[in-house]
Amino acid sequence: MGGIYGTIVESIENYTGLSPTSFIILMAVSIITYKIVCTMFVAVDDYKSVEKMKEIFEEDMKREPVQLGEVTEEQLKEYDGSDPKKPLLMAIKGNIYDVSKGRIFYGPGGSYAMFAGRDATRALALMSFDPQDLTGNMDGLSESELDVLQDWELKFIEKYPKVGVLVKEEDLDSKKAV
Ligand code: HEM
Repeated sequence: MGGIYGTIVESIENYTGLSPTSFIILMAVSIITYKIVCTMFVAVDDYKSVEKMKEIFEEDMKREPVQLGEVTEEQLKEYDGSDPKKPLLMAIKGNIYDVSKGRIFYGPGGSYAMFAGRDATRALALMSFDPQDLTGNMDGLSESELDVLQDWELKFIEKYPKVGVLVKEEDLDSKKAV
């Protein structure tokens, strides 16, 4: 055994009194143990973000739902949770709900964050996470998909305050002009 490899093996044996195999196993076990122990403690940064989340949740609870009336799809996007001071909104079948209470689901990093600030009608009917289904388009939905959608709508009506309705940009403009 020569070269660098031989030197390493020799050094391991000289300094640790262990065979290279035992040394590698010992190192591996140490790393695994270290990783496991790390997961048992909340890192300071994580703790800080938990505190931050608590503050945001408390703000959500204090804020009265603001009635927005008619909102365009473009305006709805502003309520996707990227600004923690704004409520989280989501639309189903053209009705806009304040889902701030469900920030854990719809806030940044939440499992359903992609629905925030969007009309999720088609996605919910199809139980789909495809961004293309983030639309109010109900064309071609089957009877059972419409049933699924109905269930979601009832859940939202029961759980979240309705704060507005979605309108097309041109409808909003024409109404303003009158
Ligand atoms: C592997 C499949 C899935 C599992 C295990 C799962 C699990 C869950 C659980 C445990 C909740 C929390 C329920 C509660 O505490 O009220 C939830 C909520 C929710 N799920 Fe799923 N889910 C799945 C797939 C989906 C899909 C495909 C969609 C739609 C595309 C969806 C949409 C939702 C929504 C919108 C909520 C929040 C409802 C609310 O605001 O209260 N889920 N899900």
